[in-house]
Amino acid sequence: MSRYSVRLAGETDFPGWRDAARRLALSGIAPHAITWQTDTANDLFAEARPLPEPPMAASLNVPREFIDKAEAVICHSDPARFDLLYRLLVRLRNEPHLLKLASDPDVIRLRDYEKSVRRDIHKMRAFVRFVRVGEGDGEHFVAWFEPDHYIVERNAPFFVRRFAGMRWTILTPHASADWDGESLVIGPGAVKSDAPRDDASDELWRTYFANIFNPARLKVKAMQAEMPKKYWRNLPEASLIPEMIRGADAAARDMLERMPTMPAPHHAKVQERHWSTPEKELPDEAASLVELRRQAEGCRRCPLWRDATQTVFGEGPENARAVFVGEQPGDQEDIAGRPFVGPAGRIFDEVIEQAGIEREKLYVTNAVKHFKFEPRGKRRIHQKPNAGEVSACRWWLDRELQFVKPDLVVAMGATAAQSLLGKAIPITRMRGETVTREDGMTVFITIHPSFILRIREAADAQAERSRFLDDMRKVKTLIS
Ligand code: URA
Repeated sequence: MSRYSVRLAGETDFPGWRDAARRLALSGIAPHAITWQTDTANDLFAEARPLPEPPMAASLNVPREFIDKAEAVICHSDPARFDLLYRLLVRLRNEPHLLKLASDPDVIRLRDYEKSVRRDIHKMRAFVRFVRVGEGDGEHFVAWFEPDHYIVERNAPFFVRRFAGMRWTILTPHASADWDGESLVIGPGAVKSDAPRDDASDELWRTYFANIFNPARLKVKAMQAEMPKKYWRNLPEASLIPEMIRGADAAARDMLERMPTMPAPHHAKVQERHWSTPEKELPDEAASLVELRRQAEGCRRCPLWRDATQTVFGEGPENARAVFVGEQPGDQEDIAGRPFVGPAGRIFDEVIEQAGIEREKLYVTNAVKHFKFEPRGKRRIHQKPNAGEVSACRWWLDRELQFVKPDLVVAMGATAAQSLLGKAIPITRMRGETVTREDGMTVFITIHPSFILRIREAADAQAERSRFLDDMRKVKTLIS
């Protein structure tokens, strides 16, 4: 009997796989009768036979959990992944609780593949190193990375968020991602020699790494697990590791305090625009979230706008089921113009990812939209916003919530809880709990991720991070 041959548009063509799988499954085609190909592979024995039309009234109900996993697993490098996913899809029709069978070989493989993709994504986020090419307006950053799986497209939105204000390209053997400050383009793969090498930048990375390295927290095994040797060849700072491990007994210092504030090259331009944005003390009611965001650019409701680079408004889909609220933008958020992209944002990203929450599906914002700081030498030291500033900015937060209408609001830290609930909340006592507001909105209480960053003892920081993860798992359950 001739087989069906499905040719997908690329290695990560999930819509193509989903459409074909749906038709084939509804037509009762067995997994062994299908050959899955991408436009990079060939199977001479598979006949190009048109896909069957499923019966008119037939429908396929697939658990959301399977779709989420399949979207990740399609990025795995095993050519047999399409077949595995199809087999699971067909089995799920008769075994709706299949994914709960932890000992089933297909389910085990699905989970392993998902984990492996997630880990690769995490490694790419940690180990991509940009080299600057060009100067001034022509400034562009280029990085070379060798992932294990086809993760560039899935991971690119993270880099857009983190490096929104730069123009950059990430080259990998399979695909490239290019961000020009406005749009993201996924292009063909490259070879390592296409990526520039810049010894000055390498030096910068080494200095940076040596500065943020915290000898008090050093655990050699954990560090090697986090930064496997295979990544070292593309990491300029790796040459410092042996020396730093040797010097790690030196007394712990407050490394965060030493990191200088380095405004991005476009900082002055952004601030100039900020100052020339017309004053809007009492804007009209906005008709949309987009309009609200535009109005907030000219906010003068409290004095904080004067020293900040720009308003950092919330971001995320308007139909997000959960809104996360922090305190105020930090140094890096102020420069990038986006919430939670600095050190606290990194912890936030890692922990929610571990809890199975996708940041892309959240609306993330702050109680206060301008960075409040005190200049100290070259550094800008974070200052807690006062009650008047929080109250002035609640105007924006209330309206963001009205537009998004989430099922759950997560208050991260005391300032967010105060703003959302109108009174001081004992965070450590109430964390992990929900409070219902008078308007019916449910607010989940947790710590602010920067609390973890401020803990000096490694074991205590790890324990606090685990508690934060427990909280995020509860959030995941509440929004699932
Ligand atoms: N801390 C916050 O509360 N918000 C941010 O956006 C960053 C750090």
